[in-house]
Amino acid sequence: MPLLTVENLKTYYFTEKGSVKAVDGISFSVEKGESLGIAGESGCGKSTVAFSIMRLIKGGKVVQGNITLGGTPLLNMPIRDFRRIRWERISLVSQAAMGGLNPVYCIGDQITEAITTHTKSKKKEAWNRAEELLKQVEIDPSRARNYPHELSGGMRQRAMIAMALALNPELVIADEPTTALDVVTQAQVLKLMRGLQRELNISIILISHDLSILGQTCDRIIIMYAGKIVEMGDVQALFREPQHPYTKALLSAFPDIKSESRTLTGLPGRPPDLIDPPTGCRFNPRCPQVQDICKAKEPTMIEVMPKHYVACHQVKGAS
Ligand SMILES: Nc1ncnc2c1ncn2[C@@H]1O[C@H](COP(=O)(O)OP(=O)(O)OP(=O)(O)O)[C@@H](O)[C@H]1O
Ligand SMILES: [Mg+2]
Repeated sequence: MPLLTVENLKTYYFTEKGSVKAVDGISFSVEKGESLGIAGESGCGKSTVAFSIMRLIKGGKVVQGNITLGGTPLLNMPIRDFRRIRWERISLVSQAAMGGLNPVYCIGDQITEAITTHTKSKKKEAWNRAEELLKQVEIDPSRARNYPHELSGGMRQRAMIAMALALNPELVIADEPTTALDVVTQAQVLKLMRGLQRELNISIILISHDLSILGQTCDRIIIMYAGKIVEMGDVQALFREPQHPYTKALLSAFPDIKSESRTLTGLPGRPPDLIDPPTGCRFNPRCPQVQDICKAKEPTMIEVMPKHYVACHQVKGAS
């Protein structure tokens, strides 16, 4: 049995202009000890997947679908019970480097509090565990008395990881954990995460708009476009034989560093407005291979090779 299953998940936000179909019918699973990447441009729904699993959606809700952890359904569980799952079994390292840390407490106290709130540990015992966790993420335990602003960006991110590991979760969801960091620090943090994941045999969902990061860190990758999964497969298969025109574009495109908005050079346009997405394949307005059928009919997901799935009318065997 997979550790986590997500079935036909739909999560919408409700705005004055209408419902934003941020995640619109996606299914996937995560095995124990597996590292799964989720890639896609800004606004494709990646964080919404993470927040749906953590039951932290604000301004919207999961309108359909099931999520299970070790076979236990998570979405309808009373929130009181779910709070025990959050952090204890699934934890989140969030997008903003400072986001998950409280600026007015030293990092040792924050990790200690996370432990004492969720377990019967005494304060001293929890503090020792916090120091041990800091060592594990390669921060000198003497830094436990530092406040978040006293740490470098990379250290803060590693402190967040320490916090996410504090209660020995089975699954860690890391949403753009390294985006704010320089390339060298980014590589260090990712290497550390990969190492810890193998050592502790935990599952990871790593979210990034940067496919090269996922390529270095993950076993399997999901490509999301406009609230849907367009391709899913093992890292090697996806990099060597990408099938979907969007995956191909992502692989050959580089973030435009001059542009604040992170547009991709080589892939003109932007993802659509998810209040009123294009009919048929949502990628059709930007697709270099677009045909009439792509505008008329939504492609279904097919297995092109074992465990390599793609949703595109132009792939052999589709439609
Ligand atoms: N609270 C909200 N209210 C309304 N719309 C929202 C809300 N949060 C997100 N959205 C919209 O939902 C869509 C998906 O957003 P999401 O944050 O999941 O994307 P993302 O892939 O994580 O993007 P990024 O790479 O920029 O983090 C976007 O169109 C976004 O504008
Ligand atoms: Mg996001």
